[in-house]
Amino acid sequence: MASVLVKLLLLLTILASSVLVIAYAGNLHQDFDITWGDGRAMILNNGELLTLSLDKASGSGFQSKNQFLFGKIDTQIKLVPGNSAGTVTAYYLSSKGSTWDEIDYEFLGNLSGDPYTIHTNIYTQGKGNREQQFHLWFDPTANFHTYSILWNPQAIIFSVDGTPIREFKNSESIGVPIPKKQPMRLYSSLWNADDWATRGGLLKTDWARTPFTASYRNFNARACLWSSGESTCTANSQSSTSNNNAWLKEDLDFTRQERLKWVQKNYMIYNYCTDTKRFPQGFPPECAATKA
Ligand SMILES: *[C@@H]1O[C@H](CO)[C@@H](O)[C@H](O)[C@H]1NC(C)=O
Repeated sequence: MASVLVKLLLLLTILASSVLVIAYAGNLHQDFDITWGDGRAMILNNGELLTLSLDKASGSGFQSKNQFLFGKIDTQIKLVPGNSAGTVTAYYLSSKGSTWDEIDYEFLGNLSGDPYTIHTNIYTQGKGNREQQFHLWFDPTANFHTYSILWNPQAIIFSVDGTPIREFKNSESIGVPIPKKQPMRLYSSLWNADDWATRGGLLKTDWARTPFTASYRNFNARACLWSSGESTCTANSQSSTSNNNAWLKEDLDFTRQERLKWVQKNYMIYNYCTDTKRFPQGFPPECAATKA
């Protein structure tokens, strides 16, 4: 009797673990290259977890093996806990060259218990100056949360746990270039920026607490991959993979527009589109189109 039970338990355990393997099939060894940090960046647990760390001598970083031309990128990140003031965790898509495109998240650390600032920016053809900053409705250091970038021909949408926090609509018709020709790679790094990240260097990084560590898992890219000068999306036309490519046409439905307004009303702490001091001659043209 006991042995039957043991066998049953064993079977259940095997079943449960095989379900887990399927759920976390992504292997970060296959997705990312560690690019700098001299051992401070590590891929652990058979490719399920990546950690970046920062100490007084150096930060660290990684990049995606693939390049994308449009995509929906999700990564679960757990930010540096405790007193993280002065540290910046950057997580962004970027192309190369002097007229590069870039879609940025930067997580600015803070004293224990004080809110992280989520800094966002968008560069098109080498020009940025499109900052929006947010606080969050949860503590991003207690658990993993999903930070997403949707980049398709209609819009760039930043979302946190599925809630949109920023939308940059295609405003080409009023002369604003959008990223659409240059493939981008995903980059992330953890570094010290206590000269500016704490509201102009107000607080200094507390090196007694090192190393600072940010963790990553469950990377998921639904994207048009770029290889040898071609996008996989144009190669195998959209009809064959229409379900998988739904993100290429995705925009904010009414419910998600309402969520976006809720975030912008309650959690947005800076918006270049309302900074009259900075743009005394009038706001950039896209501001009219992306007004919340
Ligand atoms: C840190 O916390 C203070 C106090 O709540 C807040 O004003 C500030 O925006 C936070 N972020 C940074 C990066 O200092």
